[in-house]
Order: sequence, then C-alpha cells, then structure tokens
Amino acid sequence: MSRRVALASAAVAGLGAAAAAGVTLADQNPTAAVGTGEATVPFHGVRQAGVTTEPPAHAAFLSFTLHRGSDRDALRRMLRLLTDDASRLTRGEPALGDTDAPLAVLPAALTVTFGFGPGLYRAAGLTSPVADLPGFPIDRLQDRWTGGDLLLQVCADDALTVTHAQRMLIKDARPFAAVRWVQRGFRRSPGVHPAGFTQRNVLGQLDGTANPRDTAMETAVWAPDGSTTLVVRRIRAEIETWDLLSVADKEAAVGRRMESGAPLTGTAEHEEPDFTVADETGLPVMPDFAHVTRAHMTDPRFKILRRPYNYDEAPDADGRPDSGLIFASYQADINRQYLPIQRRLAEKDLLNEWTTPIGSAVFAIPPGCPESGWIGEALLGS
Ligand code: HEM
Repeated sequence: MSRRVALASAAVAGLGAAAAAGVTLADQNPTAAVGTGEATVPFHGVRQAGVTTEPPAHAAFLSFTLHRGSDRDALRRMLRLLTDDASRLTRGEPALGDTDAPLAVLPAALTVTFGFGPGLYRAAGLTSPVADLPGFPIDRLQDRWTGGDLLLQVCADDALTVTHAQRMLIKDARPFAAVRWVQRGFRRSPGVHPAGFTQRNVLGQLDGTANPRDTAMETAVWAPDGSTTLVVRRIRAEIETWDLLSVADKEAAVGRRMESGAPLTGTAEHEEPDFTVADETGLPVMPDFAHVTRAHMTDPRFKILRRPYNYDEAPDADGRPDSGLIFASYQADINRQYLPIQRRLAEKDLLNEWTTPIGSAVFAIPPGCPESGWIGEALLGS
C-alpha cells in the first residue's frame, strides 16, 4: 500500500467519531489515491459509504427478492454474512471462501451500500419507513427493473473489482434471496479529466452541476441517526429522437448550455439560473417547461443528491441504442424531498419527450456499523 493511501485511510479511521461530532464526511473520499487500484474507502462508520462519497467510475445495483422463509433470524444471518464480505472486500481482502482471492486485492475505492426495501421490513415484522412510489403518467415500468427487498449498491473505479464483489455478495445472499435485477452502470473514469469536473451523461449533458454540496448536502441527505433513503429509477434515453434536435433545442429542454453547462441566463456552469429574466419577446430565458426550471429547489431541506450512472446495453438489430440513466437519488425523506420534484417533472418537463422511466425501486439506507457490528443490527437486534 502506498504511503498516500495509508494516510488517506488513517485520516478517516476515526470516521464514526467525526460523524458524531458533525464533521462533514468529505474526508471519507479517498482523494489522495483516486484512480489507483489500492485506494480504499472505509466501510465502517456511523453512515454507510457510497452515498456522499465521490461516485467512482463503475457501479452494479443488485436488487434481491427474499425467499419466502427468510424471517428475522434468517435476515440477521444474511446481513452478518454480507457485512463481513463487504468489510473484507472494501479493504482489498478476499471474502471467506473466495476461490479467486487475487481478484479481491485491488479494491479501487470499492464501496458496498446496503438498502432495505419495504419487503424486508415486512419479512422482519416491522413497519417500513419507505413505500413504493406512486405511478406517474410518464412511467413505462417493467417488472424486470422494478422493486426489491434488499439492494446492494457496489461501486468502484474498476469494472473487474465490481464484477468480483458482485459475484461474492450474490453467492452469499443466495440461501436467503433470489436476484431480482442487476443494473450495471458507468461514469467517466478517474483521470480522464481534472478532479472537480462534472461528468457527462449519455445524452451529452453535464450532469450533477446543481447537486447540494457541503452543509447543504448534509441537510439534504442525512437523518440524525446516519440513515438516508434511495430512489433508483432506470430511465431510458430516447437517443434516436434526441439526435434530431438542434443544440438550441437540447438546451431549451434542460435550461442549460450543452457545452459549458451554464444556465441559459449565464455564462459559467456554477452560476445560479435567474428565472426572472425575459427575452425581447417577453418570454422567460429559462423556459418554464425546462427540466431545471421544474426541478429547481432553493431550500436544502427540499433538495436531493443525484448520484446517477449511465447504462449502455447492446443495441437492437436495427442499431437503435439501449442507453440511459440508472438515476439514483439520495435524500433524508422521500416524501418531503423526492416526491414533490418527481411530481413536478411528471406533470411538465420538456425533457420527458426524450426520457422514459422503465424501472423504479425505493430503499431505506440504514446507518453504517462499527467494526464489531453489522448493517441492520440496530433494526433487527443481535
Ligand atoms: C434521464 C433522466 C434525466 C436526465 C437526463 C437529467 C438531466 C439533468 C441535467 C442535465 C440537469 C442540469 C445539470 C445538473 O444540475 O445536474 C439536471 C438537473 C436536475 N435534475 Fe435531472 N435528469 C433526469 C432525471 C431527473 C429526475 C428523475 C429527477 C428527480 C425526480 C431529476 C432532478 C433534477 C434536479 C433536482 C436537478 C437540479 C435542478 C436545479 O436546482 O438546478 N432529474 N438533470
């Protein structure tokens, strides 16, 4: 392990204490070693990793359906096992019984984030803090991308690391749960542009610009006990028809410039959009049907943290792409934060012409755990 990685890891070893003291968790990012195979993100802490940590290049979202007999006792056994796997793999150590141990030695900033769907609470005889989203007129949901009792969000800067972690976790979940769906996604690789750049999505847009940062992010994402919630939507990009638009039309649909990401009322990416400016015809420069106009919230208590990944599967026989976003949104409270935004977008958002939700799932993200514990322990008892 290089000295920089060791220092980065040492700096965050006291994560639980730091979180308890209200220190921001920006430190949890492996900044000293981004892009190296040895980079580690600490698994243990008051809050789970993989939420406000910098999104690495590759992700697998693994959703499971619990077997009928998976009761509270079984859930405890499963979560102990999966926590043990995750804590080893994120350190760059093989899981117990790993027959291909060399695949585990480069964690590449691996995180494994556990989410509990409504069905897990039902199986444990508990009231779920999250409920499936209501249907929206824009939805074309397919069962094969929808729902789930347990979610494991596996992220790393290397696709093989993700593949191996996915294999180990699924193997150990099998006695308790069936795989419901797996969604693999990607963002820009580390090093392809300088740190701090906003990634582009498969539609060519800078995606993530207006995400809450620092204290606004703290407020938006975390409940006081270190829990949060996750909405995962698989949203197909209608690239064939998007391709027919001029740059100006693409910009009007979102309310931001394609090249710079600047709002239509400004010149720099991080300038605030001004919704009061009108053009010479008296119409607002930020169109009232634009995605950003509809989605914008000023109060951090109503903002969401978007952590999307692109997907790109094989095109069909006619060459039509099968691409889009695994849209992942973290927020302290789905009803207070996610739903009002989603309702506004479903009602009016020009971008809906070129995007189609085909999958949807909600999960509570329980607090993290100390080294001696396991994820879900506070909920299910030891
Ligand atoms: C494929 C689907 C989507 C695409 C391609 C997309 C794209 C974008 C882009 C390009 C921006 C502007 C840059 C930025 O701030 O990141 C943006 C902003 C935003 N989007 Fe989306 N988005 C999608 C779906 C959604 C959904 C489903 C939601 C929530 C229900 C959402 C909520 C937001 C919010 C809150 C902002 C920031 C608005 C602001 O305060 O300026 N987006 N999106």
